[in-house]
Amino acid sequence: MVTMVGDAAAWEAQWAPYDDDTYARALDFVPPGAVVLDIGAGDLRLARRLAERARVVYAIEQHAELIAGEPLPPNLVAICADARAFPFPANIDTAVLLMRHCRHFALYQEKLEAVGCARIITNARWGMDVECIDLPTRPLPYDDLAMGWYACRCGATGFRPGPPERLTSHAAETIVEVYDCPECKHYGRISHRIA
Ligand SMILES: C[S@@+](CC[C@H](N)C(=O)[O-])C[C@H]1O[C@@H](n2cnc3c(N)ncnc32)[C@H](O)[C@@H]1O
Repeated sequence: MVTMVGDAAAWEAQWAPYDDDTYARALDFVPPGAVVLDIGAGDLRLARRLAERARVVYAIEQHAELIAGEPLPPNLVAICADARAFPFPANIDTAVLLMRHCRHFALYQEKLEAVGCARIITNARWGMDVECIDLPTRPLPYDDLAMGWYACRCGATGFRPGPPERLTSHAAETIVEVYDCPECKHYGRISHRIA
């Protein structure tokens, strides 16, 4: 039997490009002149576009063959490494993590906050659209959320149910940052470490 963990790891390690709309949405969140870390940069197609807007782009990719070859613009630094272990540069202010199957969101957030990075642009939490999260987040305990959408420090997302008559339009459109969500408890994760 193939385990779920094995499958998830294989998906995470897989190189696959996204569509132009996804890249455009990510680029829109990048302030001109930013110092960017692109985590899991694939064949650098987004990193090259980031370099047109940013002051410096550090692009980390674990598959060496994807980043070898074509000359790079002078402000794009390609690094072949495992982003989980590689020390993040101290001067970054913006991170990009386009990796829908990422299982290490919590680790990356913790490493980014430790170096003072101000935002992460990602599709890793919801697995769909691109969002920009201001760092550091100030999450509430999950138990303090009466009902509504949440994004947990561990990387899990969901909707805490409650009586439908209590659901306001504001709550329906707001994502609350939390820690200690049901997935944390189920998997015994510690999600509330804040840098
Ligand atoms: C779905 S692809 C997306 C590539 C790129 N972000 C883009 O949007 O074009 C994810 C990439 O992340 C890389 N990756 C996953 N885990 C990594 C890790 N721990 N360190 C470095 N690269 C990683 C994979 O090798 C793959 O190339």
